[in-house]
Amino acid sequence: MVDILPLSSFPSYIHLLPAIQTCNITNLPENYFLKYYLYHALTWPQLSFVAVVRPKNGYRQHKPGSVSSGGPEEYPKVVGYVLAKMEEEPADGIPHGHITSLSVMRTHRRLGIAERLMRMSQRAMAESHRAHYVSLHVRVSNTAALHLYRDTLGFQVDKVESKYYADGEDAYAMRCDLKHMWLNWDDDDDDTATAAKKEDGDKSTRQQEKSDGGDEHPDEGDPVGDLGKKDDGDDKEKQKKIKVKIGRPLGVGDLVEKNEAAAR
Ligand code: ACO
Repeated sequence: MVDILPLSSFPSYIHLLPAIQTCNITNLPENYFLKYYLYHALTWPQLSFVAVVRPKNGYRQHKPGSVSSGGPEEYPKVVGYVLAKMEEEPADGIPHGHITSLSVMRTHRRLGIAERLMRMSQRAMAESHRAHYVSLHVRVSNTAALHLYRDTLGFQVDKVESKYYADGEDAYAMRCDLKHMWLNWDDDDDDTATAAKKEDGDKSTRQQEKSDGGDEHPDEGDPVGDLGKKDDGDDKEKQKKIKVKIGRPLGVGDLVEKNEAAAR
């Protein structure tokens, strides 16, 4: 049986990255350094998935220095993966996901694995990142992948990118809308608002009890320190919020492995 595992789950499947890289090298000419896989797994852990076949005879404990003797396996066998990310600097300014790479080993094709990998990644993009759409590039000659994207998953061709690949082949730039998959975050907002209202209500009841002569809770001593004290005048300056830029977009261009075909 084939299981689809999120790379982000616990216990982590990050040790499968070299096997995922092997799966990529076996099936596609577009290859990447291992650190590019790691970058995806660490930056957008919810978005990448791996399809595995678990060993029939259970797992073997690894003994340092031992060589595999053909007995039970140490790891599940990787038969497919989807490597996905959020576009870091979207040219159109719209937050969207991107499929960096997808492949399934020949031995396990036409079983619906690629479709499942894609759907799980797309759902995660919509639910955890509110991606408006998902984009990808595919070779114009890649009939199987085109069928998958267009006919099964409902992608549409956005444009043709001339000589996109290192060997000079054109790419279809495709995209698929994800907004219908968004979770209704308003529900969460409503819950928060209700909780805040209840809190306010409790507070005013407590204040009312106090002004009616009721004591404060006996366990509450004198206030300690200045934290939370209401300041006025000059102290307003101190309270000024400082905006700090976080999550500086990192350049990842250097992590993409050069396609050897280009040099030939
Ligand atoms: N011919 C025609 N349609 C196909 C084919 C095929 N050989 N394979 C898949 N499809 C289409 C069909 O519409 C199929 O639905 P159906 O079975 O109900 O007819 C649908 O895709 C779903 O098929 P899956 O079984 O989910 O696809 P599979 O697991 O076999 O993987 C994939 C498809 C990923 C394209 C595989 O053939 C592969 O790994 N190819 C080599 C690597 C590759 O081309 N990857 C995509 C590159 S683009 C990118 O990475 C962004």
